[in-house]
Amino acid sequence: MMTTTNQKMEGKRGEENHSKNSTLSSSKVEKMQGILDEDSTGGWDKCWEQGLTPWDLDQPTPVLLQLLDKETLPKGRVLVPGCGAGHDVIAIANPERYVVGLELSENAIKRAIEVSSSSPNAKYFEFIETDFFTWRPTELFDLIFDYTFFCAIEPRMRASWGKRIHELLKPDGELITLMFPTDDRDGGPPYKVSVADYEEVLHPWGFKATSITDNELAVGRRRVCDIF
Ligand SMILES: C[S@@+](CC[C@H](N)C(=O)[O-])C[C@H]1O[C@@H](n2cnc3c(N)ncnc32)[C@H](O)[C@@H]1O
Repeated sequence: MMTTTNQKMEGKRGEENHSKNSTLSSSKVEKMQGILDEDSTGGWDKCWEQGLTPWDLDQPTPVLLQLLDKETLPKGRVLVPGCGAGHDVIAIANPERYVVGLELSENAIKRAIEVSSSSPNAKYFEFIETDFFTWRPTELFDLIFDYTFFCAIEPRMRASWGKRIHELLKPDGELITLMFPTDDRDGGPPYKVSVADYEEVLHPWGFKATSITDNELAVGRRRVCDIF
């Protein structure tokens, strides 16, 4: 099963420091892209080490909070690949959902541990430093939540992403992926994504979309505006 939420690029703008913030985040994005251009794997850890993390909202993804509020998320074992500082992992975890946050970057994991150090729900999640493409868990997942991971990996890796999603989910499991960015840009990360890009790599594994919706919620609140 595949549920996708398409986050549109428009948001409420017009605040005075929007363009200042935008310029700051744009230079961070350029530096981040330069590092990842040189080293597409090890570069992630360098970005975390240097604080070049323009994607990090420093809070759970608003659309995710909405889904949690509506009590529509499947229960059971949940995987958040490329979980960064772990805000979404912590938000999802509760007695009904055990969450595994996967991260390639040692510094991201350090940050996630710091962020979650006083979480009252700590026994319902864990962070694992590993590569999503090679990690072999002992148990499969009921839900995979992908936010800014699909768009972060190089497009040539997308077919492998689809295969791994298939391998990691239980046969009746659900994938929720927030599509971003959907504009027409060159290069990345974040690399542009479309419904067709997801279908191309998920349909061969028998995934069927159960819901594809536009959601205005997250974008207007993105601190880094329209870039990541
Ligand atoms: C754009 S960030 C998104 C982080 C988080 N999902 C968020 O929204 O704040 C992508 C994350 O994926 C991690 N990552 C990249 N390749 C990975 C891989 N092969 N396995 C696990 N994590 C990976 C990076 O270290 C980075 O923290």
